[in-house]
Amino acid sequence: MDILNELPPDQFREVDDLLAFVSIYDDRRRTKAFLRLLRRHRRAIRGGVCVEAGCGFGIFSEAMANMGARKVYAVEQNPILARIARKRLASYANVEVVEEAIQQFRPPEPVDVLVHDFFGQLLYDEDLWALDHLRFQPQLVLPSQAELAYGVVDSRDYVDESVTPDVLAGLKGALVSGLFEEKGGELRGVAVSWNYPTGLSTGPVDIRDRPGDLLVFGLRILDNGETVCEAARCPNWSYVWTPRAGDRFLLRFVPDVFGSKCLFEWLE
Ligand SMILES: C[S@@+](CC[C@H](N)C(=O)[O-])C[C@H]1O[C@@H](n2cnc3c(N)ncnc32)[C@H](O)[C@@H]1O
Repeated sequence: MDILNELPPDQFREVDDLLAFVSIYDDRRRTKAFLRLLRRHRRAIRGGVCVEAGCGFGIFSEAMANMGARKVYAVEQNPILARIARKRLASYANVEVVEEAIQQFRPPEPVDVLVHDFFGQLLYDEDLWALDHLRFQPQLVLPSQAELAYGVVDSRDYVDESVTPDVLAGLKGALVSGLFEEKGGELRGVAVSWNYPTGLSTGPVDIRDRPGDLLVFGLRILDNGETVCEAARCPNWSYVWTPRAGDRFLLRFVPDVFGSKCLFEWLE
């Protein structure tokens, strides 16, 4: 979904964000996987003070209220989404929608559980940065772990009539999502990882021993070491591809106006 007419910059950003985030609700597997995760932690939620960071429509805030949370703060920075969440959650006396960036939010009481989906296709390229800069410390963050897995494959198994070898060569240095259909079994190592409260861990990755001319990345979201959701199985996140141009690469993330953006380079 793209906005095709000229709008004032602030309105453009709000509507563009809105469209980007409502499209996650097309991914039913993601929503079901997160609801399963909440149910797995229902003992911590029941009677607890809960926060949904970036509540969108407020589905997980509603679920936590229904699981018996004593109080739910549904924090959302996009005013259009905050309005939608307020409407959805109006009948819950113990749910408060807070229209604010989560990194500015100061809850008036200690927080037991925080749930979020701030994962980008390259793990840290959406808004996980905000969770590493909170002004409070939740007892439990759900999900608390994720990794950006990678693999090296042979492009001859993937190129087709539109993405030909010449087109692929033209993409050198660019990380492109959804370029090819994933076949399964591509991902063999971990390039970047994140957990709460330690934060992001990234460094040079050496693929000298891995044959293949096409590098592929896929997000994996975890809880207590078990997979909650992963790229390809949950369509909200697709695999990200780039032609190989060396034996060592590095992914870095730098703060942007909202969240952080990814810098990618081949080291040699
Ligand atoms: C991927 S959506 C997830 C929505 C909802 N939590 C869910 O999983 O169904 C991310 C939401 O977080 C909001 N958001 C992103 N960064 C935020 C921040 N720093 N503070 C508050 N809200 C944020 C976005 O506007 C969007 O509604």
